[in-house]
Amino acid sequence: MAINAHGGGILHFNEIKSGETYLPEANQEWGGTRVNLTGISCYSSQDLLNWKFRGNVLHSVEDNSEHDLYWENVAERPKVIFNAMTGMFVMWLHIDSMDYSKARVGVASSSSPIGPFDYLSSFRPNNQMARDLTVFVDDDDEATAYLLTSSEDNAVMHISQLSDDYLAVRTDLPFHRVFIGRYMEAPTLFKSQGFYYFIGSGCTAWEPNAARSAVAKSIDGPWRELGNPAIGPDSNNTFSSQSTFVLPMDGSNRQGRFIFMADRWVKDDLASSRYVWLHLSSTKIAQ
Ligand code: GLA
Repeated sequence: MAINAHGGGILHFNEIKSGETYLPEANQEWGGTRVNLTGISCYSSQDLLNWKFRGNVLHSVEDNSEHDLYWENVAERPKVIFNAMTGMFVMWLHIDSMDYSKARVGVASSSSPIGPFDYLSSFRPNNQMARDLTVFVDDDDEATAYLLTSSEDNAVMHISQLSDDYLAVRTDLPFHRVFIGRYMEAPTLFKSQGFYYFIGSGCTAWEPNAARSAVAKSIDGPWRELGNPAIGPDSNNTFSSQSTFVLPMDGSNRQGRFIFMADRWVKDDLASSRYVWLHLSSTKIAQ
């Protein structure tokens, strides 16, 4: 998902979940239901209420079983960032095999915010497993971007710096291992008043759990966990949802007004999964 500053609109990228939900033999033990891969959709809006469907911007592949986007595989958690230096929109997404053993990131790019995106490649950043992910562009002069990946079989979150064109991971720099042994998924990252904030989930497949949050002065850490940022009835399962993105409402000012966006998965019928959007105040979670 990316904020597109042009015209004051935002772009919203999603895994397309359509067709029948089924439980592959290999995923029986952990309940990993799936739908066949269709692609990544894009919607645009200028007011967050009215949305225009911009189509399937990264199609699955029907006839090449070696391709990452083959319909039997997994492509999840697409995130798009704009690179001002190259003028390209860069999509990062979780690429996996049906049984989630491949554990890679995929990269695609497009000269247009509404695609179509060219699929470039998949790999394991720093030769480390990567499943749920997000990308974040900092507000420094260089617009440094970072990739967060659930790694080490989801036990540890890795933070890696991206190359200047956002198409690769900087392997000349160390990556950072954070939330060690905490099994965090569904990472989101945002910045407010000079602090970096993280919201993610625990690791319970499509079942909701209590969200986690953390704050850091430097993106490399140390990160201090702040507990569940959800409050009130049903906050113990984040109102039956799992984090996916935090949208800043003040553009680059980042003054502390955000929308917390989450998926309300329906594990036996993934195509009917819905969304939860909530007001998020960074002053509240910083207390
Ligand atoms: C978790 C992840 C999702 C997806 C499912 C699969 O919910 O956050 O992105 O991989 O598990 O079960």
